[in-house]
Amino acid sequence: MKKRILSGMRPTGKLHLGNYVGALENWVKLQGEYENFHLVADWHLLTTDLDTSKIKANTIDMVIDWLSAGIDPKVSPIFVQSQIKQHAELFLLLSMLVTIPRLERNPTVKEQAKDLGLESNMAFGHLGYPVLQAADILIYKAHLVPVGEDQMPHVELTREIARRFNNTYGNVFIIPSGKVTDFARLPGLDGRKMSKSLGNTILLSDSPEDIEQKVKRAITDPQKIRLGDPGRPEICNVFIYHKKFNPEEIEAIEKDCRSGALGCVACKKNLAQKLAAYFAPFREKRSYYEQHIDEIHDVIAQGNAVAREVAMATMDEVYQVMNLG
Ligand code: TRP
Repeated sequence: MKKRILSGMRPTGKLHLGNYVGALENWVKLQGEYENFHLVADWHLLTTDLDTSKIKANTIDMVIDWLSAGIDPKVSPIFVQSQIKQHAELFLLLSMLVTIPRLERNPTVKEQAKDLGLESNMAFGHLGYPVLQAADILIYKAHLVPVGEDQMPHVELTREIARRFNNTYGNVFIIPSGKVTDFARLPGLDGRKMSKSLGNTILLSDSPEDIEQKVKRAITDPQKIRLGDPGRPEICNVFIYHKKFNPEEIEAIEKDCRSGALGCVACKKNLAQKLAAYFAPFREKRSYYEQHIDEIHDVIAQGNAVAREVAMATMDEVYQVMNLG
């Protein structure tokens, strides 16, 4: 029997290249080797944003991106957290097994609190979201959780809670491992963290024209001003993208950039073309799904049914060892 993966994202809408390189691409690669469960973490979104007006549209957009990138819903169920109420039940029970000081030590939560100016004013649910995440993972008895670096503290907490539960009540849960993706994080076109709020993203769904416009504005070596000036690929954002999406030409680009033979305008134009070609099959699938939204609803309904069955079976075990019900 294949081991199981549980991976999740908050439904923030259309995905960008950073989401792809940091997570989605890896999910698709792991699909044959593991049994993949993919969670739309809509409850998690509430920890940092109470506005739910776009949550449905954003869920559909994100799931379309997952499918268009190659997630096969027949083998990898896609489901929505709020539709599997057992997550909330398990969250309640697990919350008894973790202390408030332990939650307050979580570096990712601390950083969020600082960024949002919530240090002494954090919601109970926000402080506790890593426990909800533990429930997401443990309820499916996942062996592996592919995550970004920032999510590793939550996986560590999940392991602690699982051990504590197993020791206290009986062996129900698998102790999961986290797996950080190999490729270093892809920066935004300006060199900062790629993020929608910073306006420095390329979306997977961008048209070739959009891609070209965005790549044109990318920040390269500031000392390379005109054709003929020697450049430093090691500090160039466009070069990082070539490395990832145009590996065949990487040696020639490096050499010609350093010598000055290759100018930034031509180099960017080339990258834009390579990116557009790389994601052409993606865009084709995406436009199919955009015209067949019913299929997306079906995929989610079927995924929910599969997930719910597993979650219910785990909760039966939980209630049994806890003498509840
Ligand atoms: N907390 C994750 C994020 O902010 C989303 C998430 C929720 C998740 N539950 C999960 C990720 C379970 C992995 C496993 O991106």
